[in-house]
Amino acid sequence: MYRTHTCGELRLANAGQSVTLSGWVQRTRKMGGMTFIDIRDRYGITQLVFNNEINETLCDSANKLGREFVIQVTGQVAERSNKNNNIPTGEIEILAESLNILNEAKTPPFTIEDNTDGGDDIRMKYRYLDLRRNVVRSNLILRHQMAFETRRYLDQMGFLEVETPILIGSTPEGARDFVVPSRMNPGEFYALPQSPQTLKQLLMVSGFDRYFQIAKCFRDEDLRADRQPEFTQIDCEMSFVEQEDVLQLFEGMVKHLFKYVKNIDFSDTFPRMTWHDAMKYYGSDKPDIRFEMKFVELKEAVSGHDFVVFDSAAYVGGICASGCADYTRKQLDQLTDFVKKPQIGAKGLVYIKYESDGNLKSSVDKFYNSDDLKAIAALFNAQPGDLILILAGDKTKTQKALCELRLEMGNRLGLRDKNVYTPLWVIDFPLFEWDDEAQRFFAMHHPFTSPKPEDIQHLDSDPGRVRANAYDMVVNGIELGGGSIRIHDSKLQNKMFELLGFTPEKAQAQFGFLMNAFQYGAPPHGGLAFGLDRFVSLFAGLDSIRDCIAFPKNNAGRDVMLDAPSTIDQSQLDELNLVIDIKE
Ligand code: AMO
Repeated sequence: MYRTHTCGELRLANAGQSVTLSGWVQRTRKMGGMTFIDIRDRYGITQLVFNNEINETLCDSANKLGREFVIQVTGQVAERSNKNNNIPTGEIEILAESLNILNEAKTPPFTIEDNTDGGDDIRMKYRYLDLRRNVVRSNLILRHQMAFETRRYLDQMGFLEVETPILIGSTPEGARDFVVPSRMNPGEFYALPQSPQTLKQLLMVSGFDRYFQIAKCFRDEDLRADRQPEFTQIDCEMSFVEQEDVLQLFEGMVKHLFKYVKNIDFSDTFPRMTWHDAMKYYGSDKPDIRFEMKFVELKEAVSGHDFVVFDSAAYVGGICASGCADYTRKQLDQLTDFVKKPQIGAKGLVYIKYESDGNLKSSVDKFYNSDDLKAIAALFNAQPGDLILILAGDKTKTQKALCELRLEMGNRLGLRDKNVYTPLWVIDFPLFEWDDEAQRFFAMHHPFTSPKPEDIQHLDSDPGRVRANAYDMVVNGIELGGGSIRIHDSKLQNKMFELLGFTPEKAQAQFGFLMNAFQYGAPPHGGLAFGLDRFVSLFAGLDSIRDCIAFPKNNAGRDVMLDAPSTIDQSQLDELNLVIDIKE
């Protein structure tokens, strides 16, 4: 038997027992004739003591152990004179009687401690060592708990977990597909699913009624902190439901996870905000409502004062940061530099300081007298001590920049506490999104999303104003999940394809299987999918979803540990009938 207990298990009540532990050497300390070794496994750390006076040979062997050696030790549990209250086993130690080296270890390339000296690249290359660290392991334990509680809740609600294939045809979710060549069908490719969207809809046609799957999804898109090329969804679909049914059931799931994983009770119904209001007041379809600081539109109020920047702008809007009127020149310059960064894209920043003595000062005093400024301040409900920040320009870009500025001010004012959670449903998304470059409409969610029945009349005349039965779950400014009620009528679905620019032939070639299925009795249905990686990283307070994925890819989409992607042997290419000709 390798062990009688784990390294996180023994307590004072075990004192006097003879035990055997197995694990990794975390740390060795020599003090006089004593050698102390911390032995570690997934469950914790226990202190071992080797006494030179009692057994010199054993102590010599202990002194030769290196970091990360795998050892087995037998000894007696004893009360520690020098207790460590920081760890659960800190009241005891093991007086070692025998030591067995199960495996030696090379010196690891970085220290395996909570505060490691290893940079990102080296930790990713040796991810199996990184995963030995408490901080990383605890994220995976949390992930397990969340997946487990998700299954428990959905099972209670009558959902069946059904696996869908990974080698499928192209699924249109707006990103590029990863493709896999088929040996048996030369020149043909599978695509990896961007999500099981069409398959779960087919399961509804099959009568499964309530489906879910903790599903791997693949999207070849530019990566960010909250995006991986390969990620996991809690993917769900239900039949005979309206939007309200879906929102209630999955609000229940989010509450269940908060309760059983984070021990946080949400008794109130989650607030809902229309997409239109989210854009108007927060400049984002995923507003962080941990703090207010809503946008105020100013175009009307500021026009006609010969200030060409405002007069010529399609949109002028601002926010009011409480208590920031004492911002120095330097701080205001920093904010101006911030909004001018290329990724934010504003041309400049106008400020109005409502000073504590009641005076108003601004960067545009030339154009606005103190009454004008007072009138503007009143629109924000500003109080003495507040700072108003204003951006102007193209509507979409300016709202986006103002959103970034709002979040920056939220950070500066400490209003984005990671331990405060503010769930929000964003509803009534537009059905279509206009793309200036392509000069055509795209589906904002995906082509199977149903328009609101009362808006169907505008499909031909004014597609841009048609709202969808689509919704997102947003927490703390993070889009955790999204879904919609689907079109279950093949005529309406064909109409959607037409509006999205598909010829009937192309629609048939790409989605014929779904359209055909809809002709055999498709129930009304709808659903949604949560990003499990984002959900876990929200609960763990992480800045990047990478840290809750066992073996993630880096920002260039590489797995540096496996060195993937990589070239393949000529023989493999031959078998696949492929010739590589990389275009410059
Ligand atoms: P959507 O594309 O909105 O919807 O995706 C659902 C959720 O998946 C997560 N997500 C990602 N997480 C990590 N990396 C990525 N690259 C990534 N892309 C998306 C997000 C997102 O909210 N089939 C529809 C769902 C439906 O309509 O039922 C879908 O995939 O948290």
